[in-house]
Amino acid sequence: MRTRILGIESSCDETAAAVVVDGREILSSVVSSQLDIHRKYGGVVPELASREHLRQIVPVVREALLLAGLDFRDIDAVGVTQGPGLVGSLLVGITYGKVLATELGKPLVPVNHLEGHVHAVFLEAHLATKAPELPAICLIVSGGHTLLYHVQAAAGSGDGAMRGFQYRRLGGTRDDAAGEAYDKVARLLALGYPGGPIIDQIAGMVAASGANIREKNAPTFGPVKIKGNPYDFSFSGIKTAVLYYIRAHPEFTDEIEARKNALQEGHRKAADLLPLCTPRTLSLISNFQSAVVHDLVTRTLEAAAETGSRTVLVSGGVAANSELRDRFGSQAAANGVSIFFPSRALSTDNAAMIAAAAYPHLLAGDLASPDLNAEPNLRLV
Ligand code: KG4
Ligand code: ZN
Repeated sequence: MRTRILGIESSCDETAAAVVVDGREILSSVVSSQLDIHRKYGGVVPELASREHLRQIVPVVREALLLAGLDFRDIDAVGVTQGPGLVGSLLVGITYGKVLATELGKPLVPVNHLEGHVHAVFLEAHLATKAPELPAICLIVSGGHTLLYHVQAAAGSGDGAMRGFQYRRLGGTRDDAAGEAYDKVARLLALGYPGGPIIDQIAGMVAASGANIREKNAPTFGPVKIKGNPYDFSFSGIKTAVLYYIRAHPEFTDEIEARKNALQEGHRKAADLLPLCTPRTLSLISNFQSAVVHDLVTRTLEAAAETGSRTVLVSGGVAANSELRDRFGSQAAANGVSIFFPSRALSTDNAAMIAAAAYPHLLAGDLASPDLNAEPNLRLV
């Protein structure tokens, strides 16, 4: 029998619903992003996020069912994100999931959002000829998280989608998440929100131009030094270095003002902002990205070497980054490690990964109790 799970995700600023069969075949995946609402505040505003989830949850779930060609009664179980995330946002999905599951008389499976990000990689990998070999190192890198896990198949029979995984936490950020650093640096430089995609595009344009638009005097960022656990991360130092550099150089003021005006007029694309950046700013952007990417790639591959893992999985919003994908691709090959990224759509928050992660828990009878509550600080291990 095919098990159809309706996944619901509302942990941050995306309201999402999806239907996934047997933990791996996506029948539909709908994501309603709140970017336009939070953009003018330069970050996610929790109250506005929960209100928008309330508005979106019903139409988003309906659309997911419609696209899957199913009715509510065809669903075998509901999987919902329990945490980590914003408490008000999580509660919208959890409350809706509880009511729906009760009404349909179907099981409700609580899902750890981070486990969802791990499953996101496996969701598509089986479509390619090569499936990820376990054990693996998984880097979860987004606006809220930068974490390294060692991932093994859980005990039992069947493939990863059915058995699920066992995790060991190797390290995580001690301050800002990598995506948060992108967003904060973009804010300092008036490049709009979210910062990741625009910095990625601008850095790509700088790289494509060769040395032409680089400036030698631009600041560079050395390797991040961390005492203790080599698999921890720290990005607040790089962000603060950018802040101090801009403060020490008042000549940045005019171009920052010009970009703020452009953003206010709705000119947010890289092609709009690029002409408003001096060569020094372009080099700063490109050096910032290189430093972050270098740190992520180096620590992850070191963890793979140390644990004897021949596979690396990368998931979360920052996994969409082009330079990260390129560097991981080339360095992993040199280290004899296979690297797997989800497609860009499954890298960022979505509900297909929640439905996929719910499947092994459903099979194991790991169901929600009636008093299921949001866990804003839920850990994977
Ligand atoms: O996973 P996600 O959608 O939401 C959570 O934070 O959970 O990730 C969003 C984060 C933002 O910080 C955004 O700036 C970053 O991912 N991001 C990127 C790129 N696309 C999104 N960072 C670097 N390069 C990108 N192409
Ligand atoms: Zn996420």
